[in-house]
Amino acid sequence: MTANTIRKKFLDFFASKKHTVVPSDSLVPKGDPTVLFTTAGMQQFKRQFLGNIDEFTRAASSQKCLRTDDLNEVGKTDFHHTFFEMLGNFSFGDYFKKEAIAWAWEFLTKEMKIPQDRLWVSVYQEDAEAEEIWLKDIGIARDKLIRLGDKSNFWPANAKEQGPNGPCGPCSEIFYDYGVNEHCTNKNCNPDCDCGRFSEIWNLVFTQYNRKEGGVLEPLPNKNIDTGMGLERLVAVVQGKKNNFETDLFAPIIETINGTLDPSNQKFSLSEKRIIADHLRAIVFGISDGVIPSNEGRGYVIKKLIIDITDIASRVSQSQPVIYRLVPSVVRAMQGPYPELQVKMHDTADIVESAEKAYIKVKKERLPELKRKLKENEKAATALGQIMFRYRDTYGLTIKTIYEALNEVRIDEKIGADAEEAYKKLMEQQQKQSRASSKMTGDVFTDAELDLDVPKTKFTGYDKTDDTGKILKLYIGDNAVKEANKDDQVKVILDQTPFYAEAGGQVGDTGMLTGPQGKIGIADTQKRDDIFIHLGTVESGKIKTGEIVHAVFDK
Ligand code: SER
Repeated sequence: MTANTIRKKFLDFFASKKHTVVPSDSLVPKGDPTVLFTTAGMQQFKRQFLGNIDEFTRAASSQKCLRTDDLNEVGKTDFHHTFFEMLGNFSFGDYFKKEAIAWAWEFLTKEMKIPQDRLWVSVYQEDAEAEEIWLKDIGIARDKLIRLGDKSNFWPANAKEQGPNGPCGPCSEIFYDYGVNEHCTNKNCNPDCDCGRFSEIWNLVFTQYNRKEGGVLEPLPNKNIDTGMGLERLVAVVQGKKNNFETDLFAPIIETINGTLDPSNQKFSLSEKRIIADHLRAIVFGISDGVIPSNEGRGYVIKKLIIDITDIASRVSQSQPVIYRLVPSVVRAMQGPYPELQVKMHDTADIVESAEKAYIKVKKERLPELKRKLKENEKAATALGQIMFRYRDTYGLTIKTIYEALNEVRIDEKIGADAEEAYKKLMEQQQKQSRASSKMTGDVFTDAELDLDVPKTKFTGYDKTDDTGKILKLYIGDNAVKEANKDDQVKVILDQTPFYAEAGGQVGDTGMLTGPQGKIGIADTQKRDDIFIHLGTVESGKIKTGEIVHAVFDK
């Protein structure tokens, strides 16, 4: 069964269970300045999870996702990726655990014909209800069901103890057993073991609580279902492959890498080819969704991915870009479900080529300079660590290139090890910051955390395209503030507004709020309980609560 058939069968299956099939949202979440990329299928349904039901109560999708958390695992393990597709079915106050579990089982065992004895499940340790459904209704063997705790089987992970506040709940995961791993030393090897025997294919989240301050879990009046299944993992299971890169989602890309860059099959290791294929998919989808390689935010992630594989590819050519020639292979493999890739293929290839050229140039210029600086500081470990960090972080040289330079200038072994430690510390600090902004946990239900103690907004946009309004509340992130300054990403609530908030299938308005001391560019308008939230960025000056602003939406 091809990946395209599997994706379609999933959507058809849930359509037959009265789900509305919703297209994948962009990789760049709309009107959500708090996250870098879409990282799960539920993200486009935040509003529905918070109780705003306007069109349907059941949905299914195959969502494009990009996560950078597992970047270092890519190519080393069988299952990790940056870009992946998440198959999901969702219930907004409609069906709950019984149906979610029964349909997941039916889809895997009947539609995908996966042998039942290959499947294991986990339930949250306190979720007797889910456990009983698995044991009694489904009839899964007791020794194939394990109980796990807050980290693995509560979503968001550890939300009970650590937050965020807002909707959350226990989850139940389904694993495929590839058979005993003879190198595993764990006598009780089960899905909690990381020896590679088990592939976690599906996560069923039972969103049944609203977490309040202090970790109090209040039952939600409307209980929701949010499931996520990694398409690549499912395809591997169904196609009888242990490694996702051997499926038809990746094989044609890897064949092109071989044919175009490595006909002798001696230039790259298997792991390097997998890294190139993985990153290329992320790059092509990211650029297609409007991300341009740059030095900040989303653009920085895409730029780093291009640089990493340009560096690997430098073994083929030191002075000419080559990666961009692989772009059509990703487009060919993925254009069935994503025809927009074809439309943008030439632009995407041009953008990749420019980024490659820029990196080749930087490397040519900066590498001799790096070597000179390393030599000048050969006795000072901390300074060496700082130099390594600067050339990695600011100029984007890859760590592979930097270590090669370090070796070449023959730094003393002990000083070299200390320098590496200093470098790693700086890198960890930097990654912590970027992870905080790229990971969704903590941001998912961000609107739920806004303290909306204001009257309903008066909507004046039926008669007017511009109006004045008083700033009742101003937030940076989810924190109410009195003042915001240039470049702050803000949420603004006015007493009245002509801006239309997203509802009934119409997108929220964009435009400008101009105050006495500054301007806010508005990228989206959302609504909760008839309170309108303008989302945007302070473009100049400052903005304060209590000020009267002139609100003009883009006609
Ligand atoms: N939101 C859950 C996850 O990301 C299930 O879709 O795993």
